[in-house]
Amino acid sequence: MKNKYLYIQTFGCQMNVHDSEQMAALLAQCGYKMTDNLKLADLILLNTCSIREKAAHKVYSELGRIGKLKEQNPELIIGVGGCLAQHLGTKFHKRVVHLDLVFGTHNIHRLPEMIASVKNEREKITNVDFYKSLNSIGIYAPPVKGTVSAFVTIMQGCNNFCAYCVVPYLRGPEMSRKPEDIFAEIEKLVDHGIKEVTLLGQNVNSYGKTLGKGLNFTALIKKIGKISGIERIRFMTSHPRDLSLELINCFAEEEKLCEHIHLPVQSGSNRILALMNRGYTVEEYMKKVDHLRKLSPHISITSDIIVGFPGEAQNDYQETIDMMEKIRFDSTFSFKYSERKGTAAQKLEGKIEECEKSRRLTQVQALQDHHTLQANLALEGSLQELLVEGKSKNSENDLMGRTSSWKIVNFKSESELTGKRVNVKISKAYLHSLRGKIDDI
Ligand code: 5AD
Ligand code: SF4
Repeated sequence: MKNKYLYIQTFGCQMNVHDSEQMAALLAQCGYKMTDNLKLADLILLNTCSIREKAAHKVYSELGRIGKLKEQNPELIIGVGGCLAQHLGTKFHKRVVHLDLVFGTHNIHRLPEMIASVKNEREKITNVDFYKSLNSIGIYAPPVKGTVSAFVTIMQGCNNFCAYCVVPYLRGPEMSRKPEDIFAEIEKLVDHGIKEVTLLGQNVNSYGKTLGKGLNFTALIKKIGKISGIERIRFMTSHPRDLSLELINCFAEEEKLCEHIHLPVQSGSNRILALMNRGYTVEEYMKKVDHLRKLSPHISITSDIIVGFPGEAQNDYQETIDMMEKIRFDSTFSFKYSERKGTAAQKLEGKIEECEKSRRLTQVQALQDHHTLQANLALEGSLQELLVEGKSKNSENDLMGRTSSWKIVNFKSESELTGKRVNVKISKAYLHSLRGKIDDI
């Protein structure tokens, strides 16, 4: 029988990256082999993002390119999943005529039957229903051989309704997976060689709320810490309002919990934070940062920042800069505010001009680059424990590992160390990585 090939392109966040891994795993059971050659593909899936306008544009332009392949190969099946698909539903077929399949964020587990229908009945399919079950996130994706780190989704959806954000509309209400399902998945991953897990959810701090009595997030981490074979635990993303003292303490108590937290602050102005419906003040945020640094002195703190939210006056923006100067994040993802249909911020007055947003973003990014480099330079000469992930992207002869604080270190090694924890001395710091030398003492 002829091989069937699947090409998946992923846009957006880690959640989407992991959803794509799950799609590939499910379709492997139906005989599809992955390819990174578009021309070879029998099935092309785009896992889309619509958090900002730019992300949606990228999807449309990619679909234009892919459409040409269908003219040469009418048997080719083209599908779109993820947030933009959830948002547009059947309208996606009208906008992009060569699409066969539109599936939403809760429908990954139904991919095999949807693809069979497209094939057998040659009809266009849309499925963007929300379900109360967690079938879509419970699919086991066996890691690629040699991988040491894996994502594990612990919850889906979000109830926060930050004024700018479409996620609660596109991923539905918050729902936590049962702890026993999470443990079973991690044990399987360990059997496949995984040493590090990153627990994924839009707001992991509220894990367990939908389960009634049971484990909260800190208790979940501690139980995962007891699974033998797991050496490192990470999580993403935390909402500052819900970051509990108990979880902050966990950084000091649970040895396997890595010294890194991604804690999106969004703005340094209390007025803007209130308009964003974030539920904390800058002072409350900074208190949590101080506490984290007191209990875990080497912790790396990363964040997200939005500039040009409606009504952000020059002094609000200046407060963001002041906050960055005070906190000195290890790194940040920063974005120009992008208006999304149906969100509360869409109705706000005081929209900021695009060129002003660009000016603010450039400044924020330049300041962050300076802070990131300073933080990296401070590590020169220090000893760091790495979990070795494999070959370095920079050079075939180097290996790459990450520090507990999530920084990339490239180093030379004669022996194959993938999956091992090694100590290296940091010899040189760059903006996006560090260089190290194996410490053989
Ligand atoms: N415009 C700009 N940035 C946004 N984010 C979410 N929604 C928007 C939007 N409408 C950013 C936030 C969030 C990150 C994942 O994306 O900073 O933390
Ligand atoms: Fe969006 Fe806020 Fe939920 Fe994060 S917490 S996904 S920014 S609504």
